[in-house]
Amino acid sequence: MNILITGGAGFIGSHVVRLFVEKYPNYHIFNLDALTYAGNLENLKDIESKSNYTFLKGDITDEFFVNKVFEKYKFEGVIHLAAESHVDRSIKDPLCFVKTNVIGSMILLNAFKNTWKDHFENKLFYHVSTDEVYGTLGQIGLFTETTSYDPNSPYSASKASSDHFVRAYGETYNMPYVITNCSNNYGQNQFPEKLIPLFINNIINNKPLPVYGDGNYTRDWLYVKDHAIAIDLVFHQGKSGETYNIGGFNEWKNIDLVKLLCQQMDAKLNRAEGTSEKLITYVKDRPGHDLRYAIDASKINKELGWKPSVTFEEGLKKTIDWYLNNEEWLNSVTSGDYQLYYEKQYKNG
Ligand code: NAD
Ligand code: DAU
Repeated sequence: MNILITGGAGFIGSHVVRLFVEKYPNYHIFNLDALTYAGNLENLKDIESKSNYTFLKGDITDEFFVNKVFEKYKFEGVIHLAAESHVDRSIKDPLCFVKTNVIGSMILLNAFKNTWKDHFENKLFYHVSTDEVYGTLGQIGLFTETTSYDPNSPYSASKASSDHFVRAYGETYNMPYVITNCSNNYGQNQFPEKLIPLFINNIINNKPLPVYGDGNYTRDWLYVKDHAIAIDLVFHQGKSGETYNIGGFNEWKNIDLVKLLCQQMDAKLNRAEGTSEKLITYVKDRPGHDLRYAIDASKINKELGWKPSVTFEEGLKKTIDWYLNNEEWLNSVTSGDYQLYYEKQYKNG
């Protein structure tokens, strides 16, 4: 069985690729990735020479290239993760998000449809999406699979749009699909522009920790390997045409999370208690900042038996250890263009 995983050199994608390559020797896993600033083949060094793994460098917005690889390899399953994924970047350059997340997804959908025409038996297009499509919650309530879409950022609007197209292809062309909408992931190999790895990197380097607004925004955090396990389960046992929410049952206000991170980092770095907290700096808020995300993951729990296996305290410790042991990785991804982005993004902070 030939399986295409898009965005496999990125944060979540690399964990999914590794899981599939190691767990399913009878599958051939093709990782299609453009290697943008967020994609890094170092993430897959340990499995790159496996005989059931092939890397395809290419852009999902390149229709000619995508059609060519579908023709050649006839992918029976697609797990689509490639995307522009950072909300702050989407505020600065929304069009890039439409190109990759909407047009790129459309090109993949067309290639999949045209490969199998009406013969979709045992085929599946799996679209990996986000809880941000539901917009924001107030102080109470949870996102369920039937919550109306109400995206607030260019990133979430582009992901919502691609979700709609996937569903539309299912309805119109009887194309088998599943969609999962997941909460905030954290763990090893996450690019240090997102809250947790950015703050770990800044604490290591004694740089300010830029907390947006008053810090009272809430996110539901899930360890990335638990997300990869959920994706494996949904790919093999999910019902075609269904959506599943995935979340950590683990809500944290940003400021509380940052304080916990500071405590754990002080302990790891043998710094006096309270040292890292002094780096906390409140900065200008993110425009359109969603107040709270929280997932009701009871459907995937009841139907497929999935639940997170790692507690937040354990996951955060593993994450911190990984970044401290991989400073070379951290330094290489934070040099060059990233420095320019960082300076622009936080110049008013
Ligand atoms: P990431 O930014 O770390 O990785 C994205 C990958 O896609 C990179 O390897 C990049 O090179 C590749 N890519 C980008 N544009 C491409 C293009 N045009 N053609 C081919 N490859 C391209 O992202 P991530 O955090 O791993 O997220 C992966 C997916 O999961 C995304 O679809 C995202 O919307 C979704 N998601 C992320 C989270 C999260 O917390 N990170 C939560 C829920 C859902
Ligand atoms: O909910 C799932 C989504 O989670 C994914 O779809 C996105 O791809 C992923 O980037 C993430 O989006 P967020 O915007 O929630 O993640 P981020 O790490 O950028 O921010 C988390 C919270 O921390 C958010 O409330 C903004 C705040 N924040 C973030 C940064 C980068 C700060 O206060 N300061 C910062 O410097």
